[in-house]
Amino acid sequence: MDSLASPPPYHPDLLRTIAGAIAASPEQRITFADYMAIALYDPAAGYYTTRAARGIGPGGDFVTSPHMGPDFGELIAEQLVDFWRRLDCPDPFDLVEMGAGQGLLAADILAYLRDRHPVCYGAVRYSIVEKAAAAIAAQRQRLMPWQEKITWTTWDEIPPKSIRGCCFSNELVDAFPVHRLRWNGDQWQEIYVALAPDGSPTPLIEILGPRSRDRLETYFDLVDIDVTNLPNGYVTEVNLAALDWLEIVGDRLDRGYLLTVDYGYDAGRYYQPAREGGTLRCYSRHAHHGDPYAHIGYQDITAHVNFTALERWGDRAGLRTLGRTPQALFLMALGLGDRLSALAESPNSGGPDLNTLLRRRDTLHRLIDPLGLGNFQVLIQTTEPPERDRENPAPPLGLRTPSFP
Ligand SMILES: C[S@@+](CC[C@H](N)C(=O)[O-])C[C@H]1O[C@@H](n2cnc3c(N)ncnc32)[C@H](O)[C@@H]1O
Repeated sequence: MDSLASPPPYHPDLLRTIAGAIAASPEQRITFADYMAIALYDPAAGYYTTRAARGIGPGGDFVTSPHMGPDFGELIAEQLVDFWRRLDCPDPFDLVEMGAGQGLLAADILAYLRDRHPVCYGAVRYSIVEKAAAAIAAQRQRLMPWQEKITWTTWDEIPPKSIRGCCFSNELVDAFPVHRLRWNGDQWQEIYVALAPDGSPTPLIEILGPRSRDRLETYFDLVDIDVTNLPNGYVTEVNLAALDWLEIVGDRLDRGYLLTVDYGYDAGRYYQPAREGGTLRCYSRHAHHGDPYAHIGYQDITAHVNFTALERWGDRAGLRTLGRTPQALFLMALGLGDRLSALAESPNSGGPDLNTLLRRRDTLHRLIDPLGLGNFQVLIQTTEPPERDRENPAPPLGLRTPSFP
């Protein structure tokens, strides 16, 4: 387990890279999105480079659903089998996991499919699209037993309209670099990062400037937000990288589904006037705060996902929204409730000891905790035309109304 001592204020190599990028820019400033991209993904010293193998998990900075045990992956696998059937059981059946972290989800999905759905498993062609080279190394190591089944690839290597199956991710979109904007009562200004003057207590400062891209203005039309209601000084984020990503997925997917699990809101809640400071959050050693210039290179930086933007832009990219539901309801619809009921039966049937049972029950509850992971959103989009809904009227398994034990 890592030491719990507070990390240093910055990684010196990373700060040098950031300073170099600022010095090389004509106006001696970079957008916050460029800053976040370097801080997280610099190939030499970015957070996901140095912390890929350790940052996620109980001994790291934050925990994701796959790190709670195999249930999350196994229940997602049930949804994937349902997609396979809805596509008339294609062989090969492509599963493209994007942003696979330490590879736990892939291992849980593949083991479950092999044991419970062997015919589907036989058809599966599993690929991982991962940005951080160090994460790929960690995934390759963990997924050694599955090396015949998995390929690591990039979007450039995937031809247009070549995927028949499902592209999916857990906590990918919140990790995309975001632009930060400030409303001055009349117009948006963009937040840039610059070098602090000599003698300042911190090496970097924020400065305001005109928007770096026109899309930052039209974005608010896309999500139907009347910005004139926002208070002066309101700061928020815009995730243009998410829109680019949807276009790529829409281009590469021939027939199938896009399954996105992440935390966030619809646009109305995201940009509500009371949310004056935005949704930016930094994670280090299981604590979170709002200062993206603390522990540069040693902390994760994230922003909540605007699901309305994913739905609207998805429509334009050929990815029609089938539905969105909280993770708790999604997992219950896929059988988490049955797992809880089975646990209640276990003590009388000579199963695992009481401590193991209690821990497992706690894990299942955490996956559906309405104040935590259970409140994450699950969005399902498809390339399938609406006519297919008439042929196949039942919604995907995870979007059906769950029964409660
Ligand atoms: C918050 S972690 C989530 C990891 C894993 N899915 C989990 O649930 O534990 C985000 C992951 O997305 C990867 N990532 C970020 N941007 C990416 C991109 N544009 N393409 C592919 N992977 C990306 C990061 O390197 C990291 O592995």
